[in-house]
Amino acid sequence: MKAVAAVPRSIADYQGRSVEELFARTVEAKRALGNNVMVLGHNYQRDEVIEHADFRGDSLLLAKLAAQHADRPNIVFCGVHFMAETADILSRSSQTVILPDMAAGCSMADMAAIEQVDECWDQLGRILPVEETVLPAVYVNSAAVLKAFCGEHGGITCTSSNARAVMEWAWARREKILFFPDEHLGRNTANKMGLPRERMIVWDPYLPNGGNSADAIRKARLILWKGHCSVHQMFQPAHVDYFRKKHPDIKVIVHPECHEDVVNKADLVGSTEFIIRTVSAAPAGTAWAVGTELNLVNRLKKEQTDKHVHFLSSTVCQCATMFRIDAPHLCWAMENLADGHVVNHIVVPEDDKAWAKVALDRMMAIS
Ligand code: 13P
Ligand code: SF4
Repeated sequence: MKAVAAVPRSIADYQGRSVEELFARTVEAKRALGNNVMVLGHNYQRDEVIEHADFRGDSLLLAKLAAQHADRPNIVFCGVHFMAETADILSRSSQTVILPDMAAGCSMADMAAIEQVDECWDQLGRILPVEETVLPAVYVNSAAVLKAFCGEHGGITCTSSNARAVMEWAWARREKILFFPDEHLGRNTANKMGLPRERMIVWDPYLPNGGNSADAIRKARLILWKGHCSVHQMFQPAHVDYFRKKHPDIKVIVHPECHEDVVNKADLVGSTEFIIRTVSAAPAGTAWAVGTELNLVNRLKKEQTDKHVHFLSSTVCQCATMFRIDAPHLCWAMENLADGHVVNHIVVPEDDKAWAKVALDRMMAIS
């Protein structure tokens, strides 16, 4: 019988090992754990990680899977911190969520702090009856405490695949939406819904009243937090022009976190799952320029050999934090779990959890 380590293994012992060795050890740890573990992998994860995932998907699909698989006591989440928090909120209290590297955050999520959102709410409250007129809608790319803020104030969460349905839900209830932290997902969705530009304002958390006059705030129907994804902002309209000129029949497909100037020039826009599904289902011989994270596009290139798949940008747009989950971290987390040691346990505080679940459940009900 295998000896069980008395103390958790150290990550330092995993660095520098060959990919082949780590692959074999991760497979063995997973086999030993059997139905005691479920490995979830976001579409942006590296190949050496995603190959161990029981399920891969976008943030909505992974959140649903975490909520549905109550039979798996442990969820190893290969993604970023906010996704693992969402899994913890939606799974049972008896389940344990593990993020193989705690440094796998999201720079966009860091662009809205609860103190700033509280301050924004107070400032709006000095101009209008905020609780009756403004509905807070937060992109899941955010800390649990912000989801809790939305739950407590009648608000809701959204993902890139249901932002439109969420905005419809929100405007059916209140006159205005405070959408955070991604300005671009909010604007692109509202553009598609036909909201005139003069009814959208941007809230800069570092300026009084977000940099807006009281009159502009009263007239606005959509208040967009000034936040963005550092990966998707790299795609430029010129990249679309370049591909259209070079391959006149090419289809351009992008993620809604891209700037509107890119989205407006694209043929299709949608979540990572939508992008994968669309390109995979396209006829052989078709050409695609894809505007989202590099790992996803490289995998599409490899898997869809009968199509011509191009990365939309000329520079490397990789999510540096998603990339932190690598073969050594995954193997380390899995072998420790097989030994009975939980490392990097994601625990959302109970107070935040209850209200955040309210906001997530509202979203789940309309997704
Ligand atoms: P998806 O929900 O489309 O997978 O996007 C998550 C994300 O972080 C994109 O940058
Ligand atoms: Fe966050 Fe952008 Fe990375 Fe998505 S791609 S996890 S939004 S930094």
